[in-house]
Amino acid sequence: MIYAALLGLGVVGSGTAEVLTKNKKLIEKKVGDRVEIKYILDLRDFPDSPFGTLVVHDFSCILNDPQVTVVAEMMGGAHPAYDFTKSCLLAGKSVVTSNKEVVATYGTELLRIAAEHGAAYLFEASVGGGIPIIRPLREDLAPNHVSAISGILNGTTNYILTQMETEGTPFDEALKQAQSKGYAERNPSADIDGLDAARKAVILAAMAFGKRLDPNAIPCEGITTITAEDTALARSMGYSIKLIAHTEQADGKILAMVSPRLVPLSNPLGGINGVFNGILVTADMVGQVMFYGPGAGKLPTASAVVSDMIDIMEHSPSGIHAPVWTDADEADVFEFPGYTCARLLVFQATASALDTLTARFGSLHSLQLAPGRLSFVTDPLSEADTDQRISDCGLPLVSRIRLL
Ligand code: HSE
Repeated sequence: MIYAALLGLGVVGSGTAEVLTKNKKLIEKKVGDRVEIKYILDLRDFPDSPFGTLVVHDFSCILNDPQVTVVAEMMGGAHPAYDFTKSCLLAGKSVVTSNKEVVATYGTELLRIAAEHGAAYLFEASVGGGIPIIRPLREDLAPNHVSAISGILNGTTNYILTQMETEGTPFDEALKQAQSKGYAERNPSADIDGLDAARKAVILAAMAFGKRLDPNAIPCEGITTITAEDTALARSMGYSIKLIAHTEQADGKILAMVSPRLVPLSNPLGGINGVFNGILVTADMVGQVMFYGPGAGKLPTASAVVSDMIDIMEHSPSGIHAPVWTDADEADVFEFPGYTCARLLVFQATASALDTLTARFGSLHSLQLAPGRLSFVTDPLSEADTDQRISDCGLPLVSRIRLL
């Protein structure tokens, strides 16, 4: 018999209990042993839940029970999730998690502690919800040098942008819908300001390049300035606005950024809607591979959590993976110094705006004149050059969005 404990009975925690229960026979067949949830740690009581009798409020019950060998942490937030994870690993208990904040911030240390104590620390559910991406990067793409990863890594913002674009739903209402569906973080600013995607980019960069970046050092722009007018304008020009996380390794440096981008509808990422995520990996042997699926939500994320539990139960101890990155692999994030891209710029129109803008920007591609608004796509320009030209033309800027 293998005894597991769950930390957290929220959206993902209750999903994990459901997956382990509904697919118990299948899981036990794969593992070759019986699997029981012995405890579920939560601050709350759940008298109406089928798992309510398993709920404990004291973490030491789990830590001090030698029968519990696998712990799934789905608490969210850095603390006490990090502290509980560390204690479990120090006690030789393997931990799996959906908590990208803990992996992105403390993953290096936790992986080291796990390796030193004969335990595993796995985090398939921390990126892309139900999409397999961590294990494919570690195993299936192992013969490759990965050069770049680009993707839609946040389900909440993709859901919001899709609702704005297809239904004209205002931002606040679309966010409420995402929260009611269990996609958003407890504090949704991590979603809408881009930090959640930045944390996931850190995890992917660590898996792909073997280097850990500081999530707070990644240039990060969220979607709070995007309006339904922007999404409609983009659509009329053949683009969809997506929050894109991008990381690449060039000349030994790692570049990373998160920002809204205009993605051509013909691009595979342009057709990814709702809570779905898409991750495009560019590698030297395989070329490009795309991973696609539900990026958030109860059962998809729980599926990824349980996949890691099965991995540990099935292969232990030989399945305990060596850390992909170590303390020696902390790396600086390099901004894209000469990074150039085209941008959609929307200005408030005045009588002489067209002449002024033509003088400053040269070719104005996809020019559109709407009442009071003038929009166009620039030639590829650096960030600094764009800033300078916008400032020189002295016209009120309504919005600016990078093209992919
Ligand atoms: N809030 C996250 C998202 C949950 O919307 O993608 C999954 O990590």
